[in-house]
Amino acid sequence: RRILQSRMAVRSTGTIVTPILIDLQKSCATPLPVLRHVADAMTDDMRAGLVCDGGSDLKMILSYVNSLPTGNENGLVYALDLGGTNFRVIRVQLGGKDERVVDTEFDQVAIPQELMYRTSEELFDFIASGLAKFAEKESGKFSLSPGRKREIGFTFSFPVKQTSIDSGILIKWTKGFAVSGTPGNCVVACLNEAMERQGLDMRVSALVNDTVATLAGARYWDDDVMVAVILGTGTNACYVERTDVIPKMHGHTSSGNTIINTEWGAFSNGLPLTEFDRDMDAASINPGEQIFEKTISGMYLGEIVRRVLLKMAEVDALFGGFVPEKLSTPFALMTPDVCSMQQDITSDLGVVGSILNNIFEVKSSIRARKTVVEVCDTIVKRGGRLAGAGIVGILQKMEQDSEGLIFGKRTVVAMDGGLYEHYPQYRKYLQDAVTELLGSDISKNVIIDHSKDGSGIGAALLAASNSKYA
Ligand code: GLC
Repeated sequence: RRILQSRMAVRSTGTIVTPILIDLQKSCATPLPVLRHVADAMTDDMRAGLVCDGGSDLKMILSYVNSLPTGNENGLVYALDLGGTNFRVIRVQLGGKDERVVDTEFDQVAIPQELMYRTSEELFDFIASGLAKFAEKESGKFSLSPGRKREIGFTFSFPVKQTSIDSGILIKWTKGFAVSGTPGNCVVACLNEAMERQGLDMRVSALVNDTVATLAGARYWDDDVMVAVILGTGTNACYVERTDVIPKMHGHTSSGNTIINTEWGAFSNGLPLTEFDRDMDAASINPGEQIFEKTISGMYLGEIVRRVLLKMAEVDALFGGFVPEKLSTPFALMTPDVCSMQQDITSDLGVVGSILNNIFEVKSSIRARKTVVEVCDTIVKRGGRLAGAGIVGILQKMEQDSEGLIFGKRTVVAMDGGLYEHYPQYRKYLQDAVTELLGSDISKNVIIDHSKDGSGIGAALLAASNSKYA
């Protein structure tokens, strides 16, 4: 113990400084050159992914969404959203340019944990039955034009190789899902079969990623939206691209635009990583994959912090030499807990103390709590700043191909996802990085803005504009 304590110093803020904390902060640092490197690597990987499938870590998936909502969309449409911990069903009555969204209703159901590891049939049966229950409750406020089927915009937030606007093959699961039987198959067919088993007569008219749905939803209200980013359980981004700069679209020489789903969660170039990231990755169900996602998104930030705290408890006697057993439970600490700890402004960090006690059953000194908050901040700061660098990577790619059309005018990045929505420090770190990278003149034109639940409406809008009856 004496040796241990002599290795530690106490900062003027009261934080106990240990070699582990110093090393952590060094390896997580994101000074401007690191951010710039990440932004440039993102741009390069985007280009490589546009040349051919498999050309880079970034899949750069063609979404088959070639036109964005105009405001003229009309009628009753449904949206179904499967992407993480919940699935949501929404119905929307659209009233065209003047009335826009006349009415919406939605329902949200938590996905039972065990369904994440069962069969495709079980997962899709669960979804179709939720959809059937919701569809039954359609009130008189909603009306379907005569002779039409109910149509669905299906937001499926996993990497899908789109084969058309209403079909696509699951490439692989992400975000902890390990459902057997879906990869390699068309997810719309999976849903259709499950709907048939339920006796539900609805038709999927658009299959979209959550980023694409968010972009469509945000664009409905604002013509300057060019990029959409999800920062939630997982992370991803999509953007508006010119078809004539997409070599892998050979044959389509038209001069229109399309939306590209980057699947940036798979990015891995030049990231400042630590032993904790590497150990978490090795223990995950998809080692070597989704490294950017594992560094910046909500599913993983808490887990990285837990791993650091465990080592500090073992090596630095963070909790006075006691190593609570629960500190060894993977994913015991969740990102919302990390967030709550960082919001604690009480002088004795009582909230931090009770969270540590509730989750890990450990009593903590004020100094230990300060150290814990500093660890949280280190991991969250790295995440937010790297997310910001990723956004700049996308914007600078667009700017390079359009000379002034991005940085020379107002450009909006639509943001959604629980991490972005609920974590003020994360949001600030992200914005700081964007401003540092772009400089204040250009960043004034770049509006990074929360687009709340745009994805539900967005998927419904795309279902309406791709309607079989339109
Ligand atoms: C994961 C999925 C991606 C999705 C993102 C955000 O990265 O692979 O498709 O958009 O999470 O939900």
